[in-house]
Amino acid sequence: KSVVRSLWKGSLSVGMLSPRLQTAMKDYLNNNKHGVAYRGHRKAQQSGQQVLCELKKGEKVRTLDGAEMPFFKLGWQKIVPALPLSQLYGPGFQTCAVVTSAGAMLHSGLGKEIDSHDAVLRFNTAPTEGYERDVGNKTTIRIINSQILAHPKHQFNTSSLYKNVTLVAWDPAPYTLNLHKWYSNPDYNLFTPYMKHRTHFPKQPFYILHPKYIWQLWDVIQANNLENIQPNPPSSGFIGILMMMSLCEEVHVYEYIPSLRQTDLCHYHERYYDAACTLGAYHPLLYEKMLIQRMNVGSEDDLKRKGKVTLPGFKNVHC
Ligand code: C5P
Repeated sequence: KSVVRSLWKGSLSVGMLSPRLQTAMKDYLNNNKHGVAYRGHRKAQQSGQQVLCELKKGEKVRTLDGAEMPFFKLGWQKIVPALPLSQLYGPGFQTCAVVTSAGAMLHSGLGKEIDSHDAVLRFNTAPTEGYERDVGNKTTIRIINSQILAHPKHQFNTSSLYKNVTLVAWDPAPYTLNLHKWYSNPDYNLFTPYMKHRTHFPKQPFYILHPKYIWQLWDVIQANNLENIQPNPPSSGFIGILMMMSLCEEVHVYEYIPSLRQTDLCHYHERYYDAACTLGAYHPLLYEKMLIQRMNVGSEDDLKRKGKVTLPGFKNVHC
């Protein structure tokens, strides 16, 4: 498909998307649900190295530490894990795999390669059971959005998906970073289930990403575009890739930039078809992907055959 070929080249414009996706994107721009008011610069056409440096300059992965209001007065300093995520793994991992949930993971046969990494990151409800050949079975960290914690259908408390792994949850806060407003009106109430889970399983590392971290990543995506991108947080995929670049020497990302297996199948584990899952509607996914592709130091063959992007950890980025 021509859209995917343009993504491989890193030169995709919104005009190439279907009218339906273009309309959805415009609606999100007009709605501006999170009150985004971007005041930064815009530098289109930075090189991959320049983008890497800009991202490295930003905050290392940051999680709620309970020191700020309203979390401080609610006693969260005793609720959050003693070690922040940035310190949990000491010097960090050598090699890390980020496994997106894209339908193109199906029939990839990448399971063994994925499991050979020191750490594997997965997303939301993505299973390994029954899909080991294609996605592997090792999970080190799982990023979950607030809906997983809040909606009963996900059975957060009982499902094995959320056991024996490090959990990292997130929810879109206002762009102004008003934590009071966020606490009283999150997208989905993740705070109550988080507290409850921390109390029941204090030994399981479980973090909530700081909204500052998420919006700072969004700012970099916007800074690298002349067009206005969707004023909504980056996808879990983008957040996860950047998080692993802070924790690992080298990061391999699978089926974020689609391979030749590209499909409208939304997730490898569900029979639901929608091109928006790969190209974006709510999330500024297209712009995220062009930025990641620009930083890719892996081969064209890896990208086309495996949907694999190779990124240096920030420790190995010298600016
Ligand atoms: O849908 P979900 O957010 O759980 O998927 C995890 C991540 O995988 C997404 O945030 C997105 O970055 C990536 N993804 C993708 N293409 C798809 C499905 C997911 O790039 N078709």
